Amino acid sequence: MCGIFGYVGSEKASPILCRGLKNLEYRGYDSVGIVTGSSQLEIRKDVGRIDDLKTRLSLEELGGNLGIGHTRWATHGRVTAKNSHPHTDCKNKVAIIHNGIIENYLELKTKLVERGHRFSSDTDSEVIAHLIEEWLSKSGPLPGTASSVNGSSFEDACTKAFKQLRGSYAVLAICEGEEKIVAVRKDSPLVVGISEIGTFFASDVAPIMDWTKDVVYLENNDFVVAEKGDIRFYNLDSGEVKRPVSTVEWDLEEAKKGNFEHFMLKEISEQAETIQRACVQDMAVVDRIAGMIRSGYGVFFIACGSSYHACLTGSYLFSKVANLHVNVVLASEFENYEHFLTKKTLVFAVSQSGETADVLEAVRAAKRRGSRIVSITNVMGSSLSREGDELLLMNSGPEICVLSTKTYTSQVVMMALLACALNGDHESCLQKVKDLYLDIYNLTSRSMRDRLKALAGDLSSQDHIYMIGRGLQYTTALEAALKVKEVSYIHTEAFAGGELKHGPLALIEEGTPVFVFVSKENGDRIVSNAQEVKARGGFVIGVSDWDNPVFDRWIKVPDCEDLNPVIQAIPMQVLAYELAVQKNLDPDKPRNLAKSVTVL
Ligand code: G6P
Repeated sequence: MCGIFGYVGSEKASPILCRGLKNLEYRGYDSVGIVTGSSQLEIRKDVGRIDDLKTRLSLEELGGNLGIGHTRWATHGRVTAKNSHPHTDCKNKVAIIHNGIIENYLELKTKLVERGHRFSSDTDSEVIAHLIEEWLSKSGPLPGTASSVNGSSFEDACTKAFKQLRGSYAVLAICEGEEKIVAVRKDSPLVVGISEIGTFFASDVAPIMDWTKDVVYLENNDFVVAEKGDIRFYNLDSGEVKRPVSTVEWDLEEAKKGNFEHFMLKEISEQAETIQRACVQDMAVVDRIAGMIRSGYGVFFIACGSSYHACLTGSYLFSKVANLHVNVVLASEFENYEHFLTKKTLVFAVSQSGETADVLEAVRAAKRRGSRIVSITNVMGSSLSREGDELLLMNSGPEICVLSTKTYTSQVVMMALLACALNGDHESCLQKVKDLYLDIYNLTSRSMRDRLKALAGDLSSQDHIYMIGRGLQYTTALEAALKVKEVSYIHTEAFAGGELKHGPLALIEEGTPVFVFVSKENGDRIVSNAQEVKARGGFVIGVSDWDNPVFDRWIKVPDCEDLNPVIQAIPMQVLAYELAVQKNLDPDKPRNLAKSVTVL
């Protein structure tokens, strides 16, 4: 998703902006732009990668001690230079960068055009620059409210313009002749970094950590004015406010690749540790949440992508371990269920980033109906971490690769922990997770990787791969298929074993690869499904702790009962990684995908 970076301070801004934008690359982007300077604005932007554009557009040559930069992930308007940020007003005196969606941009744009403004892009974002221009000219009469900020006319114009926006936004604005950055956020992430050399703004903490670990997490509608040596916080609703400075507790080294070629492989390899950290919870809180589940009148789990698969796995675990039914709904589909919510409903919102727009929207809808919220996220300070009544952190450390790997297994472990807590027995879960350490270490070892690399070599030219499982192995198949398709671009689909005969069997031809996830518990039935595949010429790859004559290939994993979804997902993550590498694709940044999807 779009990335924002800003700096004002004692140093030359352009090299800092380039480094900051490079640090934001993991969010996914198609174009880049920066603007620096105060007496005169210097703007450079184009489609492409930051490393190429840095040289081609001489980005680091731009002068000035303040500037803002942006990585764009297209939503409104095609991927073109003119649609890249920054956007400016008619006279190129005001420049803005924006992440989010301006829902009322058409309405605003029409009025601005009627008043003579000329637009250069097809984006929703550009209206912000023209609105500020409009208020700077004080020529009205666009509707607006009085400013609550007593500052320069630029600050005042920004306040009035921001108050006209509907939707979600993190915006940084600068203006010719003004030595300051003005920022605002609503429902889109924006973090402020405070250091001796100046003030930083970014969409996330990690990109700022090259300079400082002291950060301020902004609240909704916070409005910030940063100048060299000075920073002021306001809220558009309540005037001047104080915001605490927090120190980031993890180390930047954790967010760096180290000896690994890609973040994906590094993050896969961390899982022996990260699943242990997922269990480091305040057990009083876990027990309290278990009590809330027991007394909840309807329990919903909402999430997207891999987090959704972890929730589905959780629903099987709750049913099996604690004899309890919970509803799992895709956050983007949750509006269809909202009318069931009451004050007694309990909603679990699960999101690695804590910034996924669909999840946040669902949470806000649930809060409006008075339901209680439990947030499960990996990012302290994220919007979700501040929305809930209760918070559980995954403690996985930063996940940079667009694909979720370590955070998925951490989420599954947390589901298992909650399921055991419902039985008043988290100890048994903690012991089982400890016992996985060596198994995971082996599954991510060099020799296992080599075996999966060979399998990837055999599969890389396939157009279709299918995966089947039952129960906990079905949700594992769903997650495994997501991993393979998103990173290798091979069409990969998962089915419940029992559904094969209701349609998918028609897809099986001579040599069609089908992965079969097997556990002791459902071994016989899924092996029968594998035989149905085999009888139609399918190429069967078993993922299990014992070999079976029906398998053409066998990926050996130990049987870890309720934690099989963790142990069986890991070789599939490695396989997905190896497929991407063999196809010369970048596993960390699959095309068209973003790490944190902050638009609806
Ligand atoms: C994006 C990512 C997925 C992730 C999903 C949900 O689509 O590419 O890897 O599973 O968002 O993200 P969240 O941060 O809410 O868990």
